[in-house]
Amino acid sequence: MGPGLRLGDADFGADLGEGVVEYRLVVPRDVAAYGPRIALEIPRFSSLARVLSAPVCRMALRTFYPPRFVPSRITHSTTGAPLPMPTSSRKIIRALWRTGRNLSSCTPIGRRLFFPRQALAEAFSSDTASYSWRLFERHSSRLQQLGFDWRVSRILEVGPGRSVGNGLLWWAACGGEGVSVTLWDAHPNMTPDATWLQNAARDLLEEADRRGEPESRTTRTLQKVAAAAVAPPIDYVVCDQRSFAARAEAPYDLILSHSCFEHIWEPEPTLSMLADHTAALGWQSNQIDLMDHGSRETNYLEMLEYSDFAYWMTARFIPGGLNRWRAQQFIDCYEGMDMVIVAADRRIQDELPTDRSRLAKRFQQLDERELRTTELHLITRGRRDTG
Ligand SMILES: C[S@@+](CC[C@H](N)C(=O)[O-])C[C@H]1O[C@@H](n2cnc3c(N)ncnc32)[C@H](O)[C@@H]1O
Repeated sequence: MGPGLRLGDADFGADLGEGVVEYRLVVPRDVAAYGPRIALEIPRFSSLARVLSAPVCRMALRTFYPPRFVPSRITHSTTGAPLPMPTSSRKIIRALWRTGRNLSSCTPIGRRLFFPRQALAEAFSSDTASYSWRLFERHSSRLQQLGFDWRVSRILEVGPGRSVGNGLLWWAACGGEGVSVTLWDAHPNMTPDATWLQNAARDLLEEADRRGEPESRTTRTLQKVAAAAVAPPIDYVVCDQRSFAARAEAPYDLILSHSCFEHIWEPEPTLSMLADHTAALGWQSNQIDLMDHGSRETNYLEMLEYSDFAYWMTARFIPGGLNRWRAQQFIDCYEGMDMVIVAADRRIQDELPTDRSRLAKRFQQLDERELRTTELHLITRGRRDTG
């Protein structure tokens, strides 16, 4: 057993000469019967081998030994230092997998294979009433603080996913009668049927009881929908941005989105179209999640580590693949379109999750606050020149 190794650790780096290294699994004596000693011979200086060494070792160990003996950490046999490869090797393997999945997703068959419709819809959003109430409260309370006038007649929610309840709550809270709501999504995340709004109203009312919501115009209006006494004019429209721009006529008094703008690969045409469709005194309330969705806990900036080309190769065709716009870009974009910025609330983390030098060059130059911003709630009003 090499110095500094614990039971269950793998002994990495025994030099067999001629550029070959060996892994030896260090096991307690009583389980030595489980299988042969692992000796993987890999060329020491081959970069591919360096990358693959740790996962290959783990795989081999899994084959021969019970899970509790698969090392959680691989150390160098003489220095005891942890093998530096696992993180980067995991990343490279993930990049290879993502590239395959991304390129296959340019075809309808590939998309269906990797992102079946139902699974995608479920991954995108929740359809529970408690989630809808949370979304509604989040946006409505901030708008209220900023002087929002509830007398609106046309509401648009962009990228609602399966969260129909949010649109229904807005409709009811704005008084119901005379108010219309359009839910526009680029992906068919749900199929409205004759009873979808009725069921959603019932769920929202049950949740209102659980939360101890007082009776209000909102709950009274929902009761009418649940009893099928009123059919709210709420449309669920699925189409791309161009088709939506062509069909939308009168401007909207309120445009909402939650965790949607980051999924639009090229946001500018959509933002421009939304600016065009905001009434002169209308409002927009857009919450944007700026974290790498695949590694929120470990490294929320991981997606910024790829070069533009590598990122394109791994994310471009993924349905709902994340763009890499940062908070200030969204603000500048709307400012450049003459929208009035009423609030730009940022959630800012205490520290960077990774060394700045690991980021792709163009992101290294961003200031610290921008990099540590993981969420933006951007509230705007209609264009200055039309106001
Ligand atoms: C993370 S989900 C959020 C859903 C919902 N707003 C919520 O908070 O649960 C992102 C939504 O944006 C939609 N989306 C993605 N790209 C879009 C685009 N280019 N235009 C409109 N919606 C888009 C997705 O279909 C999905 O419903």
